[in-house]
Amino acid sequence: MAESRMNPVSGGSHEHEIAIESLLDERRHFPPPPAFAAHATLNDPAIFARAAADPVAFWEEQARELDWFEPWHTALEWDLPFAKWFVGGKLNVSYNCLDRHVLAGRGDKIAYHWEGEPGDTKTITYAQLLDEVQRCANALKALGVGKGDRVAIYMPMVPELPVAMLACTRIGAPHTVVFGGFSAESLSDRINDSQAKLVITADGGWRRGKVSPLKPNVDDAVKMSPSVEKVLVVRRTEQDVAWDASRDVWWHDIVPQQAADAAPEPMDSEDMLYLLYTSGTTAKPKGILHTTGGYLTGVAATHRWVFDIKPEDVYWAAADIGWVTGHSYIVYGPLTNGTTSVLYEGTPDFPDAKRWWSIVERYKVTILYAAPTAIRAHMKWGRAHAQHHDLSSLRLLGSVGEPINPEAWMWYHEVIGGGRCPVVDTWWQTETGGIMISPLPGITTTKPGSATQPVPGIFADIVDDKGESVPLGEGGYLVITKPWPHMLRGIYGDPQRYKDTYWSRFPGKYFPGDGCHRDEEGYYWLMGRVDDVMNVSGHRLSTTEIESALVDDHRVAEAAVVGTPDSLTGEAIVAFVIVKGSTTITPELGEELRAHVAHKIGAIARPKQVMFTPDLPKTRSGKIMRRLLRDIAAGRPLGDTTTLADATVVETIRDASANAKDDD
Ligand code: PRX
Repeated sequence: MAESRMNPVSGGSHEHEIAIESLLDERRHFPPPPAFAAHATLNDPAIFARAAADPVAFWEEQARELDWFEPWHTALEWDLPFAKWFVGGKLNVSYNCLDRHVLAGRGDKIAYHWEGEPGDTKTITYAQLLDEVQRCANALKALGVGKGDRVAIYMPMVPELPVAMLACTRIGAPHTVVFGGFSAESLSDRINDSQAKLVITADGGWRRGKVSPLKPNVDDAVKMSPSVEKVLVVRRTEQDVAWDASRDVWWHDIVPQQAADAAPEPMDSEDMLYLLYTSGTTAKPKGILHTTGGYLTGVAATHRWVFDIKPEDVYWAAADIGWVTGHSYIVYGPLTNGTTSVLYEGTPDFPDAKRWWSIVERYKVTILYAAPTAIRAHMKWGRAHAQHHDLSSLRLLGSVGEPINPEAWMWYHEVIGGGRCPVVDTWWQTETGGIMISPLPGITTTKPGSATQPVPGIFADIVDDKGESVPLGEGGYLVITKPWPHMLRGIYGDPQRYKDTYWSRFPGKYFPGDGCHRDEEGYYWLMGRVDDVMNVSGHRLSTTEIESALVDDHRVAEAAVVGTPDSLTGEAIVAFVIVKGSTTITPELGEELRAHVAHKIGAIARPKQVMFTPDLPKTRSGKIMRRLLRDIAAGRPLGDTTTLADATVVETIRDASANAKDDD
């Protein structure tokens, strides 16, 4: 890894230039092991050409793998940037995830091996899951939820979470799952934007041996969210919770009593399936809208191909269902494919760092899908934990959420995969609904750190500032050039923002916001975000959202937030804060501001460091030059400062930050 490449591309409408830089010259190649390729679901590269020859017909072929109540009459209506797939078709998601397997005689197959953090376990078959989903669907109806009503779900990783989601799909009520780590205020924002009338939650969940309370946050959120009529509460941790008898209903008081018989609502292919909120470049999270037929087609197909799913596999996506990975690859993809999955409630290091590996051994997990940040944490804890357990059941490893550095990739491959398991590094987003760029493990020769190539039926390019395709061997902006079935259909309630965010930078092309290098062999090397979005532990956070939370504190005059490279979490949040004149700067103030952000948004958004500064570097038009702040935070030499309104400012901040570091 000697050579280094620099591929600067200018940031266009951004105030700064973006240096897309590849410091690696990774030359290791890993062809699919012959025994793996011989048995792989996909082992003929002709699939790429077949998909390219007629992408719409190719996706229709995938859609036919689902059970439709009524066929579609038009495969794709493309009124750029608005897509409709499988128009006129009718189907039900829960029917595809459950009924059809039970009807085919696979009711006794295990859908989930669930394990709670304290060590309690539950085995749930497809037939049992279908039963529970129908009871829950009837309970939702009894609570006044009908087709088209939105339901907010704020739960720990308990079996009732997928049950709740599937019950919503059964009656045609779109859900919006809010990650349990978000604050009351973040929850309320999402409820208000989606106008949800029911919230499904739990008293709490287990995290690192402690109860992480959820119901109190719901109580606070609902005070700010008048659309909510009822709150359905799962008892999980059994601590006391406040109770409003006119609004709150225990799950165990209403769900088990219902009939296990609820006809699946025939939904239009383009009916809304769910909203999932994600951070963008402004403080307001975007409600990413996914619909029914195209989404299910895409997640089921990509799950089958990328994970080489076989009937006997035990598959574990070690993510939280509150993020899109959980939606697509813990719930909808695996269940549509009739897969047996592991569902684990807690943290990877409770009661110790062997937990994951003990789960792999006990359930004989064959496929593991995890985030680079978790892999790096395991690397830090040391290989002995993994070596303590028998991991020989594993045959395939996946990675998602952020670029995986070659060191982590190699560690994953060698220590966890015993050198025999292909590693699939999967690039995609909440907006894309499913995996877009990834190896196919029986076909693709992998290179550590590269997501390799778009999957069949997905068409990407790397373009420069003007939208022109760059030659192989160069870097630029990743774009997707053709519509795909599982693409987002919009930002809820804001079509203009949808056009502006994804489709205006490069007309006619979808712009995900990622920089990317493409090597001479056409392999894609993702380089991270090029906008004001950070990726912390594989979770997207907006700089602006955190800045608003900081200035919300009455002592803060101005704040700028940047991501800085972090060996564990990928990026870490550094906040530069100017306090109001009368405020004295103390170490406690930094702590209080960090806590304030965690309270406003959630613990994931807590800045790692708060630096107090007398000033911020700005352009003459008043835009904060985050690029320079990133340089300061990372201790790098400063890039071009010629557009600074006041060139002395950065030196002042650098001095202030050096002093802050000395104080540590
Ligand atoms: O920057 C890319 C990064 O995560 C962003 C999407 O975040 P989110 O919508 O939260 O979805 C995460 C799980 C799919 C992308 O724009 N990202 C995701 N996967 C990768 C990645 N960056 C590099 N390599 C990946 N495999």
